[in-house]
Amino acid sequence: MNRPVRLLQSVIFLAFTAAASGAEGHRFTGVESCATSGCHGGGAGHNQTQIHRKDQHANAAVAMGQATWSQQLTQNLGITNAYASARCNVCHAPLLTVNPDLFAPDLTPAKAGNGVSCESCHGPAEFWLRSHTRTDYTHAMRTQIGMRDLKDFYGRANACVGCHQNLDPEIVANGHVPLTFEFDDYDTRETAHWKDKGEWLGPRRWLVGQAVALREVSWMLSKTTPNPRATAGVKDMQERFDALNWLVRKTSAGSSLGGSDYGSTQTASDRVARAAAAETWTKESTKQLFRTLAGSRSDFGKAKSPSIAAKRGYYLAIGLRRLYIALRDEGGMQSPNIEKSLDALFEFTKNETNFDGDGFGRMLEQIEIELAKG
Ligand code: HEC
Ligand code: HEC
Ligand code: HEC
Repeated sequence: MNRPVRLLQSVIFLAFTAAASGAEGHRFTGVESCATSGCHGGGAGHNQTQIHRKDQHANAAVAMGQATWSQQLTQNLGITNAYASARCNVCHAPLLTVNPDLFAPDLTPAKAGNGVSCESCHGPAEFWLRSHTRTDYTHAMRTQIGMRDLKDFYGRANACVGCHQNLDPEIVANGHVPLTFEFDDYDTRETAHWKDKGEWLGPRRWLVGQAVALREVSWMLSKTTPNPRATAGVKDMQERFDALNWLVRKTSAGSSLGGSDYGSTQTASDRVARAAAAETWTKESTKQLFRTLAGSRSDFGKAKSPSIAAKRGYYLAIGLRRLYIALRDEGGMQSPNIEKSLDALFEFTKNETNFDGDGFGRMLEQIEIELAKG
């Protein structure tokens, strides 16, 4: 490319960037603007809209009526219609909670109310809708004009965690299913319309997700004010804080964490998440962490309370499963016995009131024995 053209492009690009900093230009355009056949509603490689339709996100608003506990939940909270309540829609139909000033002229609430749609993750598209199709635009240029950077695992985890963990404790206390954020599993599902390129990405995704989860729960607890209708939800959050703090500290990126202060843990876990997003994993480092986690049985004999131990066990079991899957898929490890023990770990964690820490520990020991066999 010759210099004047490049210069002109930079000037246009800078002008775009300046315009993008005002509210205008950052408006939502709606899923239909992405779905035309030449764009993301077409054949192989252009079929993100079709894949997204099979994804639970597309159905997220309707899904509120599909669980038996939902009616009890809304009744407890004094919500007459979940589909019209921002307390639910903020995650289940987020465009309905957006100020209409942020709708592009062609978009109406009726067209926007489609569960969790493209722009809920990729960001409001008005400003970058046209330009992002240009093949000479780099990923960096696109994100600079407002498209969210979801390639970076730190940015991606930030995009998901708000809806996948940060549930108001009063909603938890009144019967919403508990939300445990783990985005390595999420990213490897068939309904994901993307595929990350690289090796040993699973452990990286897992750890970034857990560090971000710890940061968010720290943040939520730091701003929680007493509310008798939320007691059980706050207790749940405090236990998650303990469990994540305990778990992340076992990793090398997280080894400097510690303490029980929410504010400083929020800052420290954000640092861990950023570092983890840049960490390269290998078969050896994955196996080493797998061994460390499987070797934590002594922590379960002396836990503070059964429900805290059960939550530690649950987050630990998720971590072991993600690391095992990486070792199986990329490292040739194949062990039916480990798989059985992993399933058994999850079973133990279902009983929070009478968590059997010794039984859980014995199951961890089984995994260690299998590992020692090579
Ligand atoms: C912080 C975001 C968030 C908020 C706020 C929220 N939910 Fe959810 N909800 C979720 C997520 C995420 C799931 C999926 C959980 C899973 O399957 O792992 C879910 C699942 C559900 C389900 C189960 C759907 C199914 O497929 O079985 C129902 C029902 C539900 N929510 C109702 C509600 C109602 C009613 C409200 C308002 C009182 C609400 N939710 C508020 C995030 C949220
Ligand atoms: C739940 C969040 C989420 C929703 C909703 C979502 N995406 Fe994505 N999308 C992602 C993530 C994460 C990636 C992977 C990061 C990347 O490649 O930039 C991605 C990647 C893509 C890619 C690049 C795919 C590739 O192979 O490189 C396209 C195109 C895309 N999304 C279009 C869409 C369209 C169109 C919709 C709506 C029909 C949509 N997305 C809805 C999260 C989402
Ligand atoms: C605006 C809120 C929102 C955002 C952002 C979001 N989700 Fe979701 N997600 C939901 C809700 C609500 C559900 C439950 C839908 C249902 O039950 O039908 C859900 C469901 C899911 C499910 C299926 C749940 C299950 O247990 O079967 C997966 C997987 C998932 N999300 C992954 C992701 C990933 C990965 C990201 C980030 C790239 C993300 N989500 C971003 C709100 C969101």
